[in-house]
Amino acid sequence: MNRITVIPGDGIGKEVINAAMLVLEELSLPFEYVWMEAGDEAYEKYGKALPDETLEECKKSKAVLFGAVGETAADVIVRLRFELETFANIRPAKSYRGVKCLYDNVDIVIVRENTECLYKGLEFEVAEGIAEGIRVITRKGCERIARFAFELAKREGRKRVTALHKANVMKKTCGLFREVCREVAKEYDVEFNDYYIDAACMYLVMDPWRFDVIVTTNMFGDIVSDLAAGLVGGLGLAPSANIGEKYAIFEPVHGSAPDIAGKGIANPSAMILTTAMMLRHFGYLEEAAKVEKALEEVLAEGKTTPDLGGNLKTMEMAQEVVNKLKSY
Ligand code: NAI
Ligand code: MG
Repeated sequence: MNRITVIPGDGIGKEVINAAMLVLEELSLPFEYVWMEAGDEAYEKYGKALPDETLEECKKSKAVLFGAVGETAADVIVRLRFELETFANIRPAKSYRGVKCLYDNVDIVIVRENTECLYKGLEFEVAEGIAEGIRVITRKGCERIARFAFELAKREGRKRVTALHKANVMKKTCGLFREVCREVAKEYDVEFNDYYIDAACMYLVMDPWRFDVIVTTNMFGDIVSDLAAGLVGGLGLAPSANIGEKYAIFEPVHGSAPDIAGKGIANPSAMILTTAMMLRHFGYLEEAAKVEKALEEVLAEGKTTPDLGGNLKTMEMAQEVVNKLKSY
């Protein structure tokens, strides 16, 4: 049995996690699910957004399946990524048939470093009206994320890895990142190039097809992955995986979406695609491909939630995916 900690969290996190469970139940794989609390509601109840028992349970599991939390995101998901040392955040951005979006045929995977950079939380108010933040970039961190990106490219038959940075201004931190990426690139038979992050944002919007695998530092990766999600139909379709040596966390890119929470209309696609990433992680390649195929077909038939122009509820759309699975 693979033990999995399930953290629904807040808002639509709780709604989309039920969609994921519906799909998982249909597959009946040897997973044992342990449900735990974290997020804004946990904070209200226990005074801690990430209760100790939840963190301990995560450390006993092989993976965490995470919905979304609200204002406590920094204390929950960002902390979990650090605690479990899931150093690589994989965020695919792919256009789907039948989904109205800016571009077709986009298929990019963003590999975001997850444990360093400005998100380490080293922020200080050094004097009245002066706040400072420390950006930490290490050779070890750069090396393992660069290697991860190239290994992913190799495994998935992808042609190019592009590193994004701002080494002309942040000469030490981004300079180190660029240098290490260039070194690691020499070990692989995969094309490599690098861009400044600002120019890359323009290229992404105007010519997304020039990207295949993107590797970048923590904060740039956070921003650029939402941008990429926006190119291909929005956050309702954006899955992610956080992978480390020992642990893994699977979560949609989106947050608790208070503007639509409680209405039962959150798009379950991001969470279902996230679940497929978890299946692949555990070696269930066939099942993962089936779930993706089922979702692709449902999207192509326009059986969607309102954010994509349809009129289905979250669980109705998830049920459509399950119906496809039953038919294979
Ligand atoms: P958000 O991702 O919650 O929502 C942004 C926009 O996208 C909203 O208009 C929302 O309705 C829409 N959206 C997101 N997911 C959707 C889905 N599955 N279906 C349909 N529409 C969807 O980001 P926002 O509004 O910046 O933050 C809301 C809360 O979520 C904040 O408290 C924030 O701290 C938290 N947050 C948590 C994250 C996490 O738990 N990993 C990640 C990002 C934000
Ligand atoms: Mg984000």
